[in-house]
Amino acid sequence: MSVQTKPLKVGVIGLGVGQAHVEAYDRHPQVNIFALCDLAEEKRAWALESYPEAGFTSSAEEILTDPRIDVVSICSYDDIHYEQIMLALEHNKHVFVEKPLCLKSEHARDIRRALDEKPHLKISSNLILRKCPRFIALREKILAGDFGELFCIEGDYNYGRLWKVTEGWRGQLEFYSIVLGGGVHIIDLFLWLTGSRVKEVTAYGNQIASRGTQFRYPDLVSAILQFENGMTGKLTVNYGCMQPHFHNLMIYGTGATYVNDLEYGRLYTSRDPLQPFTKMTQPYPGVHKGDLLDDFIAAIGEDREPQITKTDIFDAISICLAIEKSINHGPVAVDYI
Ligand SMILES: NC(=O)c1ccc[n+]([C@@H]2O[C@H](COP(=O)([O-])OP(=O)(O)OC[C@H]3O[C@@H](n4cnc5c(N)ncnc54)[C@H](O)[C@@H]3O)[C@@H](O)[C@H]2O)c1
Repeated sequence: MSVQTKPLKVGVIGLGVGQAHVEAYDRHPQVNIFALCDLAEEKRAWALESYPEAGFTSSAEEILTDPRIDVVSICSYDDIHYEQIMLALEHNKHVFVEKPLCLKSEHARDIRRALDEKPHLKISSNLILRKCPRFIALREKILAGDFGELFCIEGDYNYGRLWKVTEGWRGQLEFYSIVLGGGVHIIDLFLWLTGSRVKEVTAYGNQIASRGTQFRYPDLVSAILQFENGMTGKLTVNYGCMQPHFHNLMIYGTGATYVNDLEYGRLYTSRDPLQPFTKMTQPYPGVHKGDLLDDFIAAIGEDREPQITKTDIFDAISICLAIEKSINHGPVAVDYI
């Protein structure tokens, strides 16, 4: 039970996926949507019509420095998250930031330091696959021992929306990383499902699918991962694939193998081809992009870590930064921030 008594005043910056944050806050009885922010005129019209009680501004700084605001959701473009997080923390706000947390290791370290100085402030990030009912059921099986000892995990972040880098803002940023921007979801899934961190990575990338477009960075990255507990892993972040958005996932344990598919996941517990597999039919992805926010608000009220903890965020970004550094440059040890 939350001990929060006064409604928390929330500001949301960036009203793309940020609209899902607004919807989740709107449903929460202890939250007052105090201010909304976007640079785009059409979002102003949406905000004023949908949430006339909330203030609207096109200046993120106004929200980040307003002493009346307790919590900010940062849903702006990736390259401004760092600056906005630092300003929010300076002004004593709890921060829920869209992934990626930031784009550089020195920025992640600055954020870590700023949080260490103000341990009462909460931070979390929208690593939303942890709310997927099928992956939750899968994790319960792993924790119950149904997989025996895990020895390998593989995942593909098949984006299926190449146009977002060839036409949208992602391709116009000075730097965009598909590993930080997309692969982080699978890395977080790996950490959460296996309970082990990654020690070393080796990655390769190419830019064949978006060659000749505005995009200037790899649109395909494949990485081999060495886990601290001896497991191996494979990650592919694939923005150019000719298929709809999908999180491919395979988990291998001494007692079971799991293979994800759109309709259902397949759980094998025998090597005998005549033995049927079990269908895991829980919804996939089955999430609303605001699903982590109830817990975040409760964590503030109860003065505890949110479901996606500080450690979760920094571990995932440390691994992604190591993969980014390794692309076409050989093995890189993960330097945990
Ligand atoms: N967790 C997830 O599954 C998920 C899904 C989609 C996007 N995201 C993340 O959310 C962020 C936004 O992506 P999106 O898909 O919503 O993009 P989008 O283009 O749909 O919306 C972004 C909005 O933010 C506004 N904006 C950008 N910078 C701003 C600033 N400095 N001040 C005020 N408004 C600003 C833009 O005008 C735009 O309306 C990105 O960091 C992205 O990686 C996360």
